[in-house]
Amino acid sequence: VNHLLGIKYLKKEDIKLIFKTADHFKEVINRPIKKVPSLRDITIANLFFENSTRTRLSFELAEKRLSADVINFSAASSSVKKGETLIDTVNNILSMKVDMVVMRHPNPGAGIFLSKHVKASIINAGDGAHEHPTQALLDSYSIKERLGGVKGKKVVIVGDILHSRVALSNIFALKLQGAEVKVCGPKTLIPKHIESLGVKVETDLRKALEWCDVANMLRVQNERMEISYFPSTREYTQQFGLNKKMLDSLNKEIVIMHPGPINRGVEITSDVADSENAIILDQVQNGVAVRMAVIYLLASKIKQ
Ligand code: CP
Repeated sequence: VNHLLGIKYLKKEDIKLIFKTADHFKEVINRPIKKVPSLRDITIANLFFENSTRTRLSFELAEKRLSADVINFSAASSSVKKGETLIDTVNNILSMKVDMVVMRHPNPGAGIFLSKHVKASIINAGDGAHEHPTQALLDSYSIKERLGGVKGKKVVIVGDILHSRVALSNIFALKLQGAEVKVCGPKTLIPKHIESLGVKVETDLRKALEWCDVANMLRVQNERMEISYFPSTREYTQQFGLNKKMLDSLNKEIVIMHPGPINRGVEITSDVADSENAIILDQVQNGVAVRMAVIYLLASKIKQ
């Protein structure tokens, strides 16, 4: 398959190959000359129908480090605003000899839909509350880097699980690699049948933290809610926010992750986000190498 639409469609071996390839690119981007000529014959369009800082810049940098030609499209300043459809938009871009599309879209399944209607390799850079595969890959890569592996590790994903593509993709990726996974958050922000994915639910943050090796702290996705799913931000923080006092009171060291953007003082305090336990900026740094690996591996299939 010439797409990366979700972790759901990957096998354990695919993740292993992506990580092995990312190891190589991580070494490359730490050299004085951070580029390789591998994809001089590939053109990539980055299509963002939803805001992004990390994912958009990370993909662009990954593409440039691979020497691909890159064009960037932001829906907010495009003819989408004049009523042009997604398929028309993408087919017009593809007619300019584009080989690969990286797309972030607010609607779940947008990447899957597009892959059935256009002739290009599609990478899902986040589709609504569905999946964010490269985020989950860089998260697992970062756990492996810090703890030596993912298999057997206990990972708790804390927060707004219901609206989180990061949570779903992480659950698929972590389970595939043999991690134990719990989710923790207000009952109203945990999908009803989440246990069918092989994860356990814990509504007490302290118990979840005492259990885990890694805590992935998520932002509450207010932009995906028509009503508030919990009484107030202050009450959310009191029950599910991670602060230094709580972290220090655990009888062990745990790894703290966050996909960003952080709402400091809501789901995590600054002293935790900036602590030695946190690998938040390592996640961002690893994102470039992991995305280089994904793009490189997909591009090699296009070239076949
Ligand atoms: N982690 C993540 O997807 O961040 P952005 O929304 O800034 O891309």
